Amino acid sequence: MQYLFYIAFLLYLLYPVQSSEISHTNTQVWGPALTNNANLPVRYLFIHAYDKKNKAIKKDLGDNAFKLTVHDQDAGRVRAWVQVLNLHNGSYIGRFRMYDHGGQLVVNVKHEGKHVASSPYSLKEPCYNTTEVYGDECNCPLPMKQWTKALQCPPTYRQIEEDLKPHKVIELSTFAKRIVERFTPHHSVCHYAVVNNQVYRQCHGSITDFKMFMDAPLLSLTRKVKLPDFEFFINLGDWPLEKSHDDPLPIISWCGSDGTHDIILPTYDITNSVLEMLGRVSLDMFSVQANTGPRWGKKIAKGFFRGRDSRQERLDLASMSVKNPDLIDAAITNYFFFKKDETKYGKSVKPISFFDFFKHKYQLNIDGTVAAYRFPYLLVGDALVFKQESEYYEHFYKDLEPWKHYVPLKHDLSDVMEQVKWARKNEKKAREIQRAATEYARTNLKPADIFCYHTALFREFAARQNGTVKILNTMEKVEQPETSCKCKRSKKTKKNERKEEL
Ligand SMILES: *[C@@H]1O[C@H](CO)[C@@H](O)[C@H](O)[C@H]1NC(C)=O
Ligand SMILES: *[C@@H]1O[C@H](CO)[C@@H](O)[C@H](O)[C@H]1NC(C)=O
Ligand SMILES: *[C@@H]1O[C@H](CO)[C@@H](O)[C@H](O)[C@H]1NC(C)=O
Repeated sequence: MQYLFYIAFLLYLLYPVQSSEISHTNTQVWGPALTNNANLPVRYLFIHAYDKKNKAIKKDLGDNAFKLTVHDQDAGRVRAWVQVLNLHNGSYIGRFRMYDHGGQLVVNVKHEGKHVASSPYSLKEPCYNTTEVYGDECNCPLPMKQWTKALQCPPTYRQIEEDLKPHKVIELSTFAKRIVERFTPHHSVCHYAVVNNQVYRQCHGSITDFKMFMDAPLLSLTRKVKLPDFEFFINLGDWPLEKSHDDPLPIISWCGSDGTHDIILPTYDITNSVLEMLGRVSLDMFSVQANTGPRWGKKIAKGFFRGRDSRQERLDLASMSVKNPDLIDAAITNYFFFKKDETKYGKSVKPISFFDFFKHKYQLNIDGTVAAYRFPYLLVGDALVFKQESEYYEHFYKDLEPWKHYVPLKHDLSDVMEQVKWARKNEKKAREIQRAATEYARTNLKPADIFCYHTALFREFAARQNGTVKILNTMEKVEQPETSCKCKRSKKTKKNERKEEL
């Protein structure tokens, strides 16, 4: 008897909350997964649990409080990988990747077998009586206005305006020749042409494997949205290229720097995490939010870093860690560029899971070859980010401010110890900065934001081009993957779209 009592008591302790607290009707569900036309590689929604007194529940309700399923009213089963991520504070992110599905869709969100909020959500196009719910590989592009409206894309971005300022007119008859002359054969660049929403390219240079990181988002985008005809060059290297201030050429790169004038796209890293979410990639802006380690108060209050030896400051940081192990836990995981010196930099350590970074309260973001592409994932975790001052930037850095979103570190890292000590002494302010950063990243670096940014840049780039877009006979067509998904949008819908476009 006593034994049973202990088991019951233990279960009570483990079960974080009495589930009856959750109100089916007060709980809130929202997000692009519930919107017609908001086609993305992975559809997602947010769940906030509310109790019967209509108060937001802030404690961990366990991993299984909500169940997400999708089905097709006519065909029944939809082939999909569905996941609900527990953010451990009464909030959840639900997401799903559909395979070859094109048609109508019903999204169900349930708690203990009963629908919550306005579930079931039936996704249909009300005016045209057609449905616009398509899996990633379905080739069924929508007019740009319709798609950007569904995803609530902002009209433009500050970084895009700034990047395109020197390019009032992009002369198509000469720009390709000039770019090839200036940057090749020393750099690897690819020339893309998008014509009738088909993708063509020609690469120049010796190392062009990274073209796959441009092919994939372009193909995925053109399956979802009609892009204007346009041409562009992407720089496949790490470093931005255009040093000319007076007469910059419009070359697109994944990383910008203060001394160069390239046009910036979101990095291939974050873009790929959007494309491969619930697929080949496990680190993305959503998975981090569900894996932020112990609560703030339980995290180890040290500056944490793991990474390759791609920059002198990373080594300097590792040697500071040897001398100040109570303040800094920094180690090199892989020696490639510099000579290994264990007495100076400590032992090289095995890489750990990114999610385990968040056992530490203070995350040190130190440049690699260029900007450290882990920055978005660090910001969205539940830890305070310290960012090395740097000339390099990604597409969103200009939205961020030191002391508001992160603690700045001098470029030579000479103030790391001082800043860590500051954070330890100023818990409240540190937490405030962390919260602002997480909020920013959650709101502005979602999959929709990454796709919206690409679309906005391509649209504004195309609008500046003068001349006809040509498919060179040296270009090859970049083919869409095979799929059994059929674009079912009716002729009537298409006719209406054409009217809208005119
Ligand atoms: C859970 O945490 C995230 C940020 O970490 C926040 O945006 C969300 O509102 C929180 N949910 C609740 C119910 O407080
Ligand atoms: C609208 O959709 C319903 C159900 O899918 C179908 O039965 C009906 O015939 C459609 N109406 C038109 C005008 O296409
Ligand atoms: C566009 O190209 C045409 C033909 O080459 C040229 O006459 C015209 O001036 C160009 N427009 C601008 C705005 O540069």
